[in-house]
Amino acid sequence: MHFIPEKLDDYVVAHSENEPELLQQLTRDTFRKILQPRMSSGPYQGRVLSMISKLINPKYILEIGTFTGYSTLCLAEGLQPSGTLDTIDTNEELFDFQREFFDKSEYGSQINQHLGNALEIIPQLNKTFDLVFIDADKDNYVNYFNLIIDRMNPGGIILSDNVLWSGKVIEVLNPKDKMTKAVLEYNTLLKEDKRVETVVLPIRDGLTISRKL
Ligand SMILES: C[S@@+](CC[C@H](N)C(=O)[O-])C[C@H]1O[C@@H](n2cnc3c(N)ncnc32)[C@H](O)[C@@H]1O
Repeated sequence: MHFIPEKLDDYVVAHSENEPELLQQLTRDTFRKILQPRMSSGPYQGRVLSMISKLINPKYILEIGTFTGYSTLCLAEGLQPSGTLDTIDTNEELFDFQREFFDKSEYGSQINQHLGNALEIIPQLNKTFDLVFIDADKDNYVNYFNLIIDRMNPGGIILSDNVLWSGKVIEVLNPKDKMTKAVLEYNTLLKEDKRVETVVLPIRDGLTISRKL
C-alpha cells in the first residue's frame, strides 16, 4: 500500500539501492511458481531490511515467516562472517525453493531453515539474538514477542512487519475482525512495554523497529 503519493513513492524507490540480481530472479520465480506471491517483502522493503541489518551487523538473526526467502536474503546481507540466520516457516512446500536460492547466494552456509510452527521451534533454539524479524501469522505476534524478548541481546532489534495492516488500524474495529484486533493489541504492547523502545515506520504495510533496552 502507498502511504505517500504514488509518484513520490516511485521517486523514493528510484533513489534507493537497486535490487540485487539474485533477488530479482527470486521474485520472478515466486510470481511464476508460488501461491500468494505478494506476501514477499519486495524490492524497496528488502533494501530497507538489508540496510538495517548492515547497520546492526548482527551475529545472530531470527526470522519468523520465511515464505520464499526474500527477506531472509536481505537480512543475511548484514550478518557477521561467523554469524547465522535461523528462519522458520510452517509451509513445507516452500522448503526446497528457499534452499535453492539460499545456496545460490553467498550466505547459504549461514542460513538454517526450520520447518514447523514458530511457537514450538523458537524455544528449541539455543541462542540469543541481535536481530529478529517477525513476519508470520499476525494473531501470534504478541506470543512471538513474549517468546523472544528475554532472548534478545541488549540493544538487539525486533522488526515487525504489517503493523499498519492496510490502514485498518485506524478504522472502526469490526468485533469479528480478529486479525486487526491482534495487530492493534501488538502495537499497543510495543508502545507500552518498558523493555523496548519503539518507532513505527510507514513503509509498505508498516514496519516497526523495537530496540531492547
Ligand atoms: C508474509 S509471509 C513471510 C514473507 C517473508 N518474510 C518475506 O518477506 O519474503 C508469512 C509466512 O509465515 C508463515 N507462517 C504462518 N504461520 C506460521 C507459524 N505459526 N510459524 C511459522 N511460520 C508461519 C507462512 O507459511 C508464510 O510463508
